[in-house]
Amino acid sequence: MFQPAITGSGVFTPDQVITNDELVESFNAYADKMNAQNADAIAAGDMDPVPHSSSEFIFKASGIEQRHVLDKSGVLDPDVMHPLLRQRGDDEPGVMTEMAVDACTKALTQAGLEGSDIDLVICAASNMERAYPAVAIEIQQDLGAQGFAFDMNVACSSATFGIQAAADMVRSGSVRRAIVVNPEICSGHLEWRDRDCHFIFGDVATATVIERSEDAKGDYFEIISTRCATKFSNNIRNNLGFLRRSRPDGVDDRRDMQFMQNGRKVFKEVVPMVSAHMLSHLEAEGVSDVRRLWLHQANKSMNDFIGKKVMGRTPETGEQPNILQDYANTSSAGSIIAFSKFSDDLQPGEYGMICSFGAGYSVGSVLVRRH
Ligand SMILES: CC(C)(COP(=O)(O)OP(=O)(O)OC[C@H]1O[C@@H](n2cnc3c(N)ncnc32)[C@H](O)[C@@H]1OP(=O)(O)O)[C@@H](O)C(=O)NCCC(=O)NCCS
Repeated sequence: MFQPAITGSGVFTPDQVITNDELVESFNAYADKMNAQNADAIAAGDMDPVPHSSSEFIFKASGIEQRHVLDKSGVLDPDVMHPLLRQRGDDEPGVMTEMAVDACTKALTQAGLEGSDIDLVICAASNMERAYPAVAIEIQQDLGAQGFAFDMNVACSSATFGIQAAADMVRSGSVRRAIVVNPEICSGHLEWRDRDCHFIFGDVATATVIERSEDAKGDYFEIISTRCATKFSNNIRNNLGFLRRSRPDGVDDRRDMQFMQNGRKVFKEVVPMVSAHMLSHLEAEGVSDVRRLWLHQANKSMNDFIGKKVMGRTPETGEQPNILQDYANTSSAGSIIAFSKFSDDLQPGEYGMICSFGAGYSVGSVLVRRH
């Protein structure tokens, strides 16, 4: 058995930013347009008007101030309301591959490695750009990595579940060096025309290098242990699937073929589930002084509750870093952005926990110790 360690991490951040004010302005223009188009039906009581969104609500309910996206022109156009991405040829790298390679290159540089040193690539994300070939295999090719690669999807928990899979393989010796990469194009599955959720997501890619601690070339975090759990729920759901053509209505732009959630229920049910999961993981390892929590980034109040429960007190500034004010919810990548940006100052011997949670429901925690 070998001791797995995280020796590098990296973040690809798209240049384009949408502030809450910009988002709300375009949403309200869309609402006015829809309401004008349907004025008669609304007046007759056959249809509800589309209500306006508000920046104050978004910030207060979620803590989000802005989001990065691959394309803001389509998202902000009231006649489009989704990203517009160029159709790529089969001989060009996919969009997910391109952003993944950027994040991987940064993670590899931090670890002092080349792509050819890697013998496992896991592309772990909430959505895949195509059914096959696996996006991970294209990333493997473009990195010049060896060995094998595969895709996995556990929605917002994809990164931690991917880290568990990679860490277990490094521990057993079946691979020597792995990279887990999370290219999340959340703008593609967000329903920008739905006021209740149009502010939630942003785009990003993160990557984490996992190898034997004895191979590490610089600073690293030992992966002490990982723990994953799932419990079925329909409160976060997307019905887009490969069987859509076979359904009687034959429609592929139904509301349920984008992200849907019952946010209130998710909040209420997931906070206790995650707090109990993290506490029992820490207890099983006999760790009572965890110094840093890198949590999934969906909602600031949610993280405040979880942080307080897990630490047994209100976390001090920096002990539970949030990045969602700048990135919004980036699905599985959120906790890894927080880890990548806010882990350098941890002292040797100090413990931290990465924890992601979301659709499934799913929760994954990774207990690390600074070497
Ligand atoms: C989504 C979320 C931010 C919404 O916050 P909330 O406080 O639950 O808000 P609600 O959806 O209950 O809406 C509260 C009110 O604000 C209104 N509202 C919703 N969106 C609005 C918007 N964009 N602008 C203005 N008002 C809005 C609602 O219509 C509702 O009005 P009502 O009280 O008159 O019915 C929050 O529930 C959340 O983050 N939940 C967890 C989600 C999560 O972790 N998901 C994982 C996904 S990976």
